Amino acid sequence: MTSPAIAHIIDGKQIASDIRSEVKQGVDARILLGKRPPGLRVVLVGENPASQSYVRGKKRASEEVGIIAETLLHPEDMPEADLLNLIEQLNNDPDVDGILVQLPLPDHIDEDKVILAIDPDKDVDGFHPVSVGRLVLGQAGFEPCTPAGIVELLKRSGVETSGAHAVIVGRSNIVGKPMATLLLRRGLDCTVTVCHSRTKDLPSITRQADILIAAIGRANFITASMVKEGAAVIDVGINRIDDATRERGYRLVGDVDFKDVSEKVGWITPVPGGVGPMTIAMLLQNTLHAANRRDT
Ligand code: GUN
Repeated sequence: MTSPAIAHIIDGKQIASDIRSEVKQGVDARILLGKRPPGLRVVLVGENPASQSYVRGKKRASEEVGIIAETLLHPEDMPEADLLNLIEQLNNDPDVDGILVQLPLPDHIDEDKVILAIDPDKDVDGFHPVSVGRLVLGQAGFEPCTPAGIVELLKRSGVETSGAHAVIVGRSNIVGKPMATLLLRRGLDCTVTVCHSRTKDLPSITRQADILIAAIGRANFITASMVKEGAAVIDVGINRIDDATRERGYRLVGDVDFKDVSEKVGWITPVPGGVGPMTIAMLLQNTLHAANRRDT
């Protein structure tokens, strides 16, 4: 009996650390030229514990690479008009290169209106309609951090994209749709299929994928029978499942059944330690790009 092939496990922690080092070099180069360090403002409204933890991570990582990051904390009942005023001030502040409003926002605030208020040249999340339009048209702008991070994982792991059939499961504005746009781009040159919860016979499509991106939000949804041998599988999911053996009572798993799938495919990202660390690294890269673009 032949032993099963073992996939190359894509080390998102290491690749994210490499990107953070590159950003630090870029920040240091600015300082050597007598320019100011890039400035990022992270706005958090309310006390959602997950958001607080993400925001702390963004600030810490920024400081490590020399980006001046300030977190602006506001109470849950902040009026929408006050938030729009704050964004206007940040748009006009010459020391601010990047503005990030942590989502989700409280129900009384219209998220679309808030994103629209951000200056597209400071939109380091890549969520503004102008950023989305630039992305689709292939113009210079900000790429949303999670899909941009996935492109880096593929490139730096030597996964061939040209002519590859990329299948994306999930059609969100933050991951699925921009991921499709990026993989279609000249230079990456994938043939792209986007699937979702209404897709008929999903396994027959995922089995055709040379590159499979799972962004569904259902624990261990993708099993070995749904993937092609030798494929590259990127797991965007972060799901909590009960685990009495852990002190905190749960563990994090992805949308891919890692143990099952890793014995069949060529590349796979773990959860945690795959896509997750890339999102912040790409935010730092976008903030450096914002600073470099603004002073040219
Ligand atoms: N909430 C969860 N992920 C994100 C993100 O990437 N950006 C913002 N602004 N909010 C989020």
